[in-house]
Amino acid sequence: MAIYNLGSINADLFYQVPHLPGPGETLAAKSMTRGLGGKGANMSVAAARAAALVSHIGAVGSDGTWARQRLLEYGVDTRHIAVMDQQSTGHAVINVDEDGENAIVLFPGANAEITESAVGQALSESANGDTLLIQNETNQQAYAAKMGKELGMYVAYAAAPFDAASVQAVLPYLDFLILNEVEAAQLTEETGLAVDNLPVADVVITLGAKGCRWINSIEKTSQDFPAHKVDVVDTTGAGDTFTGYLLAGRDRGMPIAQAIGLAMKAGALMVTREGTADVIPDLKEVQESGL
Ligand code: ADP
Ligand code: NA
Repeated sequence: MAIYNLGSINADLFYQVPHLPGPGETLAAKSMTRGLGGKGANMSVAAARAAALVSHIGAVGSDGTWARQRLLEYGVDTRHIAVMDQQSTGHAVINVDEDGENAIVLFPGANAEITESAVGQALSESANGDTLLIQNETNQQAYAAKMGKELGMYVAYAAAPFDAASVQAVLPYLDFLILNEVEAAQLTEETGLAVDNLPVADVVITLGAKGCRWINSIEKTSQDFPAHKVDVVDTTGAGDTFTGYLLAGRDRGMPIAQAIGLAMKAGALMVTREGTADVIPDLKEVQESGL
């Protein structure tokens, strides 16, 4: 089986600055590093490292061919990543001061310009039962979810960054919904929907160092999974890694509970590492981690 991931691709530009710039201030950065980012790209890398066949559906500007190449090197099928001459690649300008405090400007760029026909063409290659994964950093979410459902795909949504209207637009088509604790609370607060009573077969709520909860609305069951105890270095990317691993496990036939077990190991290992897409562990590392 395969995973089609409609997802964002960002250049994460880290600038080391003496302090965060104020209004009207011009500041020289001491260094700049560029990494592959975007929740979509992170999840594609995670699923590919978890040994799934992953096809990324997305877009970059002509300044983003390196990001497409990087995804290819991680084993992701990049044929459905459009290169758009008139758009800028999505990017995050991340200023980091000496205390590690940051201020971020995010520009969606090409991530918001994906065409219906590109989504349609990619999904028309899918087989019945393939997974469609979507997050909230691109356009075409509802179009893709509806088409995926019609094609008999397993439609999964990661509700991040959270926006109630986006969740509600895809909700009728979902088989699987994943949100963190804060997002789950926001969903209930803003829509009145209770997360343990959604019209979605499987819902997973991640709880950081407290693990996660799995709610199955068909069996009317819920199960709590305690997290592994690890030394936390950097929590960035833990959620994206968890999601990629979970769906990769399910895609190759693991029962959900077992796929959650695998994903929790990968998520725990990820918080022990500095960085994002470039340090997502592969399956061998996860299995040999001793977790
Ligand atoms: P997000 O980054 O989306 O907020 P979480 O922080 O909830 O996601 O992390 C996702 C999963 O990664 C958790 O369910 C857990 O399995 C694992 N994880 C995250 N933080 C830790 C931690 N401090 N210790 C162990 N596991 C963690
Ligand atoms: Na995280």
